[in-house]
Amino acid sequence: MLDLLITNATLPDGRTNMSIAVAGGKIAEVTQGMTAPGLETFDAKGNLVTPPFCDPHFHMDATLSYGNPRVNESGTLLEGIALWGELKPSLTQDAIIERALTYCDWAVARGLLAIRSHVDTSDPSMLAVEALLEVKRRVASYIDLQLVAFPQDGVLRSAGGVANLQRALDLGVDVVGGIPHFERTMSEGAASVKLLCEIAAERGKLVDMHCDETDDPMSRHIETLAFEAHRLGLQGRVNGSHCTSMHSMDNYYVSKLIPLIAQSGVSIIANPLINITLQGRHDSYPKRRGMTRVPELMAAGVNVAFGGDCVMDPWYGMGSADMLEVAHMGLHVAQMTSQGGIRACFDAVTVNAAKVMHLQGYGIEAGCDASFVILQAPDSMDAIRLRANRLRVFRRGKLLAQTPEAASSLSIADRPASTSFLLRR
Ligand code: FE2
Repeated sequence: MLDLLITNATLPDGRTNMSIAVAGGKIAEVTQGMTAPGLETFDAKGNLVTPPFCDPHFHMDATLSYGNPRVNESGTLLEGIALWGELKPSLTQDAIIERALTYCDWAVARGLLAIRSHVDTSDPSMLAVEALLEVKRRVASYIDLQLVAFPQDGVLRSAGGVANLQRALDLGVDVVGGIPHFERTMSEGAASVKLLCEIAAERGKLVDMHCDETDDPMSRHIETLAFEAHRLGLQGRVNGSHCTSMHSMDNYYVSKLIPLIAQSGVSIIANPLINITLQGRHDSYPKRRGMTRVPELMAAGVNVAFGGDCVMDPWYGMGSADMLEVAHMGLHVAQMTSQGGIRACFDAVTVNAAKVMHLQGYGIEAGCDASFVILQAPDSMDAIRLRANRLRVFRRGKLLAQTPEAASSLSIADRPASTSFLLRR
């Protein structure tokens, strides 16, 4: 017994005039030209129907706090870190929850239905951890929220760092995080990677570390992470986030490093908006871009995804939960303007990100969850070019959000105001 039919859909792989039949929250059938008179039907009019956007790298405990207690005047990473330190003592659980729920509403309107968020575990009170665990419970019916235990101040550098991280995992945080380049020395950073991977292996958890988020060509933590993933049999379960130092590394060294990453089954997340903004700040001219080597990693078979990282927080005052904006920046920074490169940038915020997160039932094929977004664009290239309207956002067969069709594809500037929310918390 079918519940819903989407007709005349174009799929990301290029198939056109496709029908997607939905039953019981699952995709029952994907076939060409199917009709079902009497059944609730939505005509996609040849537009692209994609699985939902996924953000595999975000910081929901800080989002939408921009200007609190003051704005980042210099716009630098260092002032951002100082600002976060000023904000932390006044944080309340209610304020974190409220901001995060608002962000999740924005996300749904943008068809962003899966988010991996790091949560700072440095505070022994577990304030942010408990707040985001509550958010995870509250949004469960419309967003897959995965949490990473993130020792922002360094798991070895800060007093009680290991115990706090373990407590966060005990409370139900999903993934083991880390920040080896922020430990006191390169060797202590390497020790933190080994320790955290061992904790993940013991607990059966995934790993996602901020890794080498610097311009230092000698930073080597992604190498250690790949080695530990291989040593502990964690292939396919470990991710290195940022890895911006790879941009500056010696080419000979990278020719050895990328095969190691591929063999270790480690995925990589670049955060284009933030990497292009925060890296290269010590350069005069020429200024480095500071994003990791996306096309080279992809060519070697490494799963590479793009994350949003920050939206309106102490580090970054821009952003709007739009993963097409992230893909757009990634495409430019990595010069991925070939036809294959453009499609790969779209994959980086959809299927590749879902793979990093180990999402089940993701995709537009029979048996998958009936979760998809109808975009006002004929293909992934125009979707990125226009940061296209999300005409309809479905999750498990249920309509979550809709945006009226813009009369002209160039009139998307008024898109946010016209987005209507159908959310019920
Ligand atoms: Fe981050």
